[in-house]
Amino acid sequence: MDWGLQNRLARIIKPETGHTVMLAVDHGYFLGPTSKLENPRATIAPIIQYADALMPTRGVLRTSVDPKTQTPIVLRVSGGTSIIGPSLADESITTTFEEAIRLNVAAVALSIFVGTDYEHNTLMNLADLVNEGETYGIPVLAVTAVGKELGKRDARFLSLSCRIAAELGAHFVKTYYCEEFEKVVGGCPVPVVIAGGPKLDTMSDVFQLAYDAINRGAIGVDMGRNIWQSEHPVAAIQAVRAIVHEKATVTKALELFDDLKATRN
Ligand code: 5RP
Repeated sequence: MDWGLQNRLARIIKPETGHTVMLAVDHGYFLGPTSKLENPRATIAPIIQYADALMPTRGVLRTSVDPKTQTPIVLRVSGGTSIIGPSLADESITTTFEEAIRLNVAAVALSIFVGTDYEHNTLMNLADLVNEGETYGIPVLAVTAVGKELGKRDARFLSLSCRIAAELGAHFVKTYYCEEFEKVVGGCPVPVVIAGGPKLDTMSDVFQLAYDAINRGAIGVDMGRNIWQSEHPVAAIQAVRAIVHEKATVTKALELFDDLKATRN
C-alpha cells in the first residue's frame, strides 16, 4: 500500500488501538431530512470532536461542517436514488476524485448492492473508485448496503458482500452486525466496521451491539442514528468510544453514559 494511502487510513483507524469510531451523517442523500438530522450543522457540531472520522456527502460537508475541523472526512460519493424511488440500489458515483481531493478527504465511501439488479453496476463503481483511489492514494470504504431489505442482514449474505468488496480492492468495508459475525470478519481480508442501523430501543442495546461487534472482530463502528437520535448524543458517542478504544464493558459504558448525561448533555 502506498504511503499516502496508508497515512490517510491511519488518520481514520487510530494506530494506538487499531480501532475507529466513525460518525455517519450521510443519511440525507436518500432519506432527505431524517429525524434529528434536519439541521446537519446543529447535529454535527457538538459531536464531531468525539469522532475519529465523519462520513457526510459533499453537500453537507460544504454547508454544515466547519472547515477548521481536525476530524478526517470519509466522503460519501455514491447516490442518485431516494427512499420513494423505484430502487435504492440504482446508485451511481456522484462525486469526482478531483472534488474529493479538493475537499481534502481521508477516504471515499460508496454502497454496493450485491444480489440486486444493480449488482454489476455498483460493483463496477467500486472497482473504478479503487482504481482512482490507488492512483491518488485515497482509500475506499465499501458499504454492503441492503436497501429496504433489512432481513438480508445475515452472515451468509454479508460474508458474500464483504468478501466481494475486498476482492475488488476496497481498503475497508462497512457492514451490519449479525449472528455468527466472526464468519463475516473471518472471510474478509480487510478491516470491517459496522453500521448501527435504525435506532435501537435502549442505550444498553446500542452498547451491546458495539461491544459484540468489537469482540467478534470489527475494528470499529460507523454509527449514525444510534448516536445522534439519542436523547444524549454527546454522552452516547463517548460511551461508544470507551467500548471501541478502551475495551469497556456494556455495564461500564452505561455508567459512563449516565455520568456524562447527568453532567452535560
Ligand atoms: C447507508 C449508510 C449510512 O451511513 C449508515 O448505514 C448509517 O449509519 P446508521 O445505520 O448507524 O444510522 O452507509 O448505506
